[in-house]
Amino acid sequence: MASLQYFLFTSLLLFLCSPSLAQQSFRPKALVIPVSKDASTLQYLTTINQRTPLVPVDLVVDLGGRYMWVDCDRNYVSSTYCPARCGSAQCSLAGANGCGDCFSAPRPGCNNNTCGVSPDNSVTHTATFGDVSQDVVSLQSTDGKNPGRVVSVPRFLFACAPTFLLQGLASGVVGMAGFGRTRIGLPSQFAAAFSFHRKFAICLSSNGVIFFGDGPYVFLPGVDASESLTFTPLFINAVSTASAFPLGEPSAEYFIGVKSIKVNEKVVSLNTTLLSIDSEGVGGTKISTVNPYTVLEASIFKAVTEAFINEAAARNITRVAGVAPFEVCFSSSNILSTRLGAAVPSIDLVLQNENVLWRIFGANSMVEVSREVLCLGFVNGGSNARTSIVIGGYQLEDTLLQFDLATSRLGFSSTLLGRQTTCSNFNFTSNA
Ligand SMILES: *[C@@H]1O[C@H](CO)[C@@H](O)[C@H](O)[C@H]1NC(C)=O
Ligand SMILES: *[C@@H]1O[C@H](CO)[C@@H](O)[C@H](O)[C@H]1NC(C)=O
Ligand SMILES: *[C@@H]1O[C@H](CO)[C@@H](O)[C@H](O)[C@H]1NC(C)=O
Ligand SMILES: *[C@@H]1O[C@H](CO)[C@@H](O)[C@H](O)[C@H]1NC(C)=O
Repeated sequence: MASLQYFLFTSLLLFLCSPSLAQQSFRPKALVIPVSKDASTLQYLTTINQRTPLVPVDLVVDLGGRYMWVDCDRNYVSSTYCPARCGSAQCSLAGANGCGDCFSAPRPGCNNNTCGVSPDNSVTHTATFGDVSQDVVSLQSTDGKNPGRVVSVPRFLFACAPTFLLQGLASGVVGMAGFGRTRIGLPSQFAAAFSFHRKFAICLSSNGVIFFGDGPYVFLPGVDASESLTFTPLFINAVSTASAFPLGEPSAEYFIGVKSIKVNEKVVSLNTTLLSIDSEGVGGTKISTVNPYTVLEASIFKAVTEAFINEAAARNITRVAGVAPFEVCFSSSNILSTRLGAAVPSIDLVLQNENVLWRIFGANSMVEVSREVLCLGFVNGGSNARTSIVIGGYQLEDTLLQFDLATSRLGFSSTLLGRQTTCSNFNFTSNA
């Protein structure tokens, strides 16, 4: 009894966790956050308001990241910060793999009897330990056309990380926002907090947008990108792709089933074994926002680029020397420009059947490295690539991707340029 009282006393003294706030009378159907591209690192950044008092927290968007992690060692001041006690429901939601103490004065990221996870910098492939924590986050709701009223989640779960984990991220950033397929990824937590569909959509560009919840997803001058999606199943890789993880944890990343690749509508001959995920979690195709360009396993890279070079030559497009990180570049002199970007051979990712194609046009395949030179924006992942095809950010821009976690399905629009709009055209003027 005495020890129980002591326990309760210390709990009250140290936890200071606010009870869940009273139910908000306004329940949003969807939420919206902006995404911008950092010109020097090519990382996609977003901003979420967190803590009490609220401060804007800049984070790198990590589509396959397991949760949000932030630097708690520097400038973390909040009266609503709250560590997750070992054995709590929060620890189990987070899949926490340890219980730790901290032998200095308590502060965010340093508490006794707190469970931990392994926050991952997926840009540098560095992992460390960090406390599972909770704090308020606040963001804007949306009707799909404009941002609306601000809503908050009083006990949003995230991981604390030490400052060094930020190395390699864009300047000003204090962590990463994980949109992966876990129970504490951003999409699942927001869906649970507001009881909406476990869906989210990303639309990347220099100034793009991310929606949590179902469509409409409307871009000026009034194009609802949720109306013209093509669907393909999402696959789970049973072996985690994180830098550190508990044994048996599946990957939180989003894999799709590319069955073949066509260049200028002609099938490229590939070693198809590489296109499926094997029992060790090697192979397959995933979507990534931390890779600026699509990465192809060496033999796939060779086959696709050879086909592209031949098809380009047939159009009198002249090859020139590569410009790192690209190996395949062309003189822009014989390349016309179209509404869908440079007029070059199309590249198709063929999905569950011949009729389901993700077609990549010049706007997403060619990178202008100078006025005179355009390069094929794909890079060689070498022969020991863990994942054979990693569809990177440049290939995703101006395309709306909707991830449905409940049905394990990806919806993708073709390039929005074909519909006279772009991912930069969400109207961020609030109508609240
Ligand atoms: C954790 O407990 C130890 C031993 O009781 C104590 O010295 C230390 O200050 C505590 N640390 C925190 C962060 O509460
Ligand atoms: C195809 O790829 C698999 C997996 O890497 C490899 O074991 C096999 O030898 C490859 N086949 C050919 C014909 O290169
Ligand atoms: C390519 O150039 C050759 C020689 O100048 C010309 O005969 C041919 O018609 C051109 N082909 C195309 C597709 O422009
Ligand atoms: C953007 O939304 C605001 C608020 O609804 C509206 O007043 C404005 O006209 C919209 N902008 C355009 C270009 O349609």
